[in-house]
Amino acid sequence: MAELTLPASMKPVSGKTFKAPAGAKRIKTFKVYRWDPDVGGNPKIDSYEVDLDACGPMVLDAIIKIKNEIDPTLTFRRSCREGVCGSCAMNIDGTNTLACTKDIGEISGDVKIYPLPHMPVVKDLVPDLNHIFAQYASIEPWMKAKSQPPSRERPQSPEERAKLDGLWECILCFCCSTSCPSYWWNGDRYLGPAILLQAYRWIADTRDESAGERLDELEDPFRLYRCHTIMNCTKTCPKGLNPAKAIGEIKKLMVERR
Ligand code: SF4
Ligand code: SF4
Ligand code: FES
Repeated sequence: MAELTLPASMKPVSGKTFKAPAGAKRIKTFKVYRWDPDVGGNPKIDSYEVDLDACGPMVLDAIIKIKNEIDPTLTFRRSCREGVCGSCAMNIDGTNTLACTKDIGEISGDVKIYPLPHMPVVKDLVPDLNHIFAQYASIEPWMKAKSQPPSRERPQSPEERAKLDGLWECILCFCCSTSCPSYWWNGDRYLGPAILLQAYRWIADTRDESAGERLDELEDPFRLYRCHTIMNCTKTCPKGLNPAKAIGEIKKLMVERR
């Protein structure tokens, strides 16, 4: 993935260093992006030495240890700690991923931790997700069926249900959208891979009866067609999904209905 780029005036500068406790034998340094809106100025990179013998195996374990035992001002999001809520998405060692499923042992040298790239930062590792969640709401991510519902449920054959595999597993972590150069430059109007995968999840659902309207909404030079099949999204998805393929399926449907 391309390196995170910031204007020169906002380049992070070196911050504080927190040394490991005396006697620690297996020390790993975590270099963490820090920015506080109440202080302003350039972001800083603080260095925390962590004793891995007294820490869990995942990057999130280290971040929680830093907050609990070393520096309570460090701010980040997390919830499930097992890769299902999407809250702990961040840029670790140059790749967007989930801190709770990223094994510290896979990282050689210092562990560099930044917020998801090209998003406004609320504080430290917390990106502002208001815009991307508004884009999510714009695709109306719920079943829209006009026919009278059956008395029990809307049935689906195993084959129809299988069409949702590779789509329903998305946890809206936005690792993909924030690794997509098209989304970096046109995120105000381009929906990006996460939202387009979600849009396709509803188009592909045989119980939904609004595929035509959904495609009408996407038929736009920016909302859909800014995807240039660069594939960063698929490469980075921590759930092993393929948003680029989902976007390709939407484009195929656009051609078929012409
Ligand atoms: S395939 Fe499309 S959505 Fe995925 S990174 Fe490339 S341009 Fe972005
Ligand atoms: S497609 Fe993957 S990377 Fe993108 S939001 Fe969903 S789970 Fe996250
Ligand atoms: S804490 Fe939920 S995905 Fe990491």
